[in-house]
Amino acid sequence: MADELYCLPHGSRILVTGANGFVGSNLVHCLLELGFKVRGTVRKPKPWLDELFWDKFGEDSFESAVLPNFEDKELLFQVMQNISGVAHVVSDVSFNSNPEEVVPWVIQAIHNVLEAASKQREIQRVVLTSSALAARFPEHNKEGIVVRENSWNDSAIKEAFNPDTPAHLKGFFCYAASKTEAEKAAWNWVKENKPDFQFNTVLPDFTLGRILHPEIHGSTMGWVRSLTKGDRKIFQTFEPQYFCDVGDIARLHAAALLDPKTVSRRLFGFANRFNLTEIIWIIRKLRPDNTFIPDPPVDDGSDLSEVIPAKDAEKLLQDFFGQEGWKSIEESISDGLEGW
Ligand SMILES: NC(=O)c1ccc[n+]([C@@H]2O[C@H](COP(=O)([O-])OP(=O)(O)OC[C@H]3O[C@@H](n4cnc5c(N)ncnc54)[C@H](OP(=O)(O)O)[C@@H]3O)[C@@H](O)[C@H]2O)c1
Repeated sequence: MADELYCLPHGSRILVTGANGFVGSNLVHCLLELGFKVRGTVRKPKPWLDELFWDKFGEDSFESAVLPNFEDKELLFQVMQNISGVAHVVSDVSFNSNPEEVVPWVIQAIHNVLEAASKQREIQRVVLTSSALAARFPEHNKEGIVVRENSWNDSAIKEAFNPDTPAHLKGFFCYAASKTEAEKAAWNWVKENKPDFQFNTVLPDFTLGRILHPEIHGSTMGWVRSLTKGDRKIFQTFEPQYFCDVGDIARLHAAALLDPKTVSRRLFGFANRFNLTEIIWIIRKLRPDNTFIPDPPVDDGSDLSEVIPAKDAEKLLQDFFGQEGWKSIEESISDGLEGW
């Protein structure tokens, strides 16, 4: 990839919020590999994270910035100094079941990020990590669902506030509502405020793959890892859906930051359909002696939806990074189980 094809100055510093998370750390790694520098926000100092990137890319490559919250506008403004682009990866991933405690916070955080970025003239690109759940809820065995770039999960907010929602699903619906409403709010903010930077979003579906450090719990990949210890927690809320490798998700973020042709787009990280049965068979194949891996559910079905913009995202990975296509689920799970 020729340097002149990047829309941010090559070697400039990019801000990644939540640099210690599963997606955030893989995005930092991807940007450093491409020759950019990164400032990564963390809530508390994490010397192991600095060492992780310094060991591989040198001490000037990565710097962490402690940002305990996103309400402190002055600190946010300072963190964005001498930065060419911003990826806002942080979200409330606590699965807290009180929508009032989750949804407004996630919206306010992206508002504050966009406002602070608009005050820094050097910032040319801002990218928000949204979610597949901002476009739709996965529904197994339902035919005729077509997801387009302008699809929105309008039922998420209703389900989050619905008093009849079963208790075990409440946190999941609150999370989905926060992702939907925050992404909508971000697009509205950009439309109303017309900042100098360009804006894109990335919508990952269930993300699997490489966990860069033992201190990183690995989010969704962490749940899959736990199956090797007999932990069935993932069974409670899992619906057959699409998966995507975390490296592909990181590269979609990088393209959203760097590709001059990718402007005002929602990039859908939906590689292929999968279900729990498939995950369990893959893990059993990779760990044939493990007797803790639970039996798959009985007939867990399949996500039959057609996700049209996923083809554009795959083409972007091909055109911008020269890769053949999405990484396979077998490779992704194998990467995620490495050292486990
Ligand atoms: N994994 C998936 O399948 C998937 C799918 C779709 C979208 N996403 C999105 O990807 C992003 C990263 O998620 P992940 O899967 O990588 O999860 P993760 O590993 O748990 O990372 C979450 C990051 O957000 C930070 N964070 C959480 N709550 C925060 C708060 N209140 N204030 C400041 N920082 C906070 C965490 O910091 P601490 O470590 O200090 O808590 C961590 O750095 C999120 O926006 C998520 O919605 C993930």
